[in-house]
Amino acid sequence: MPDARPTSAFHAANLDPAVTDRLIAALDAQAANPGVRRLRSWAHTRLAARPGERALDVGSGTGSETQVLAAAVAPGGTALGLEPHPGLRAVAEQRARDVDSPAGFLDGDALALPLPDAELDVVRCERVLQHLTEPARAVAEIARVLRPGGRVVLLDTDWPTFVLHPAAPEVRPALAAVTQATAATPDAGRRLAGWLAAAGLTVDELGSDVLLHDPRSVTWPIVHGLGAAAVARSLITEEQREQLHADVTAAAELGAFHLSVTMFGAVAHRPR
Ligand SMILES: C[S@@+](CC[C@H](N)C(=O)[O-])C[C@H]1O[C@@H](n2cnc3c(N)ncnc32)[C@H](O)[C@@H]1O
Repeated sequence: MPDARPTSAFHAANLDPAVTDRLIAALDAQAANPGVRRLRSWAHTRLAARPGERALDVGSGTGSETQVLAAAVAPGGTALGLEPHPGLRAVAEQRARDVDSPAGFLDGDALALPLPDAELDVVRCERVLQHLTEPARAVAEIARVLRPGGRVVLLDTDWPTFVLHPAAPEVRPALAAVTQATAATPDAGRRLAGWLAAAGLTVDELGSDVLLHDPRSVTWPIVHGLGAAAVARSLITEEQREQLHADVTAAAELGAFHLSVTMFGAVAHRPR
């Protein structure tokens, strides 16, 4: 059953091409962020996909990490990215073709993986569970398709750790509320180990990193979006939003702007 809650821009039902272009730009910007790069590198090292293995990237987005998996399992292996959003899937397919990557992509839902039991050696799932209303079900699905001894890495954001500075104390609760409303399960990051254990998997290692932005330049799409959402929900006034923008602009000129959120990772395996 597809997740029927279209709260997220990442929901496959959201087919507006302008929204898709913004999603791709956001994913590309995140992929270039040093914290994301470090956490991904840690995850690939710990997952240790080997030639000949069968790998799956659940919610593969633009497919960059499916390509990394495909390179690791070559020769003889297969790496698939499962991606329900047609626009993101098309970009992933095109980008893989552009670099002759053998990564393949298929439609599907994390809550009902279109694969038999015990089919896979390795699975990764990055920043997808936060968008699901029933993430534990998706982790149980991952456990089902892993062979005994198979490995998984989950990476996700923990939105209650979001920090935007400077923001007046009376504005901070509004920013926290609208930030957390962008995800169906905003505290996914801290829950990864628990979901893996509940699915019968053995947790081997936990990791974390911070998605930290440049202190000299305001991340305007995020700041604008949060400010507008807070006003729309009557959590702050228009004057408070304008003050927030003035404060962050002045801070950036001094190299004192701060925007960060913590991401967590968990590596596990299916017991033999
Ligand atoms: C924040 S993006 C992350 C994409 C990619 N994993 C990355 O880290 O760049 C969230 C992804 O989850 C996908 N997604 C959303 N709901 C899904 C579901 N029910 N099953 C599988 N993927 C889903 C979205 O289409 C999108 O590609």
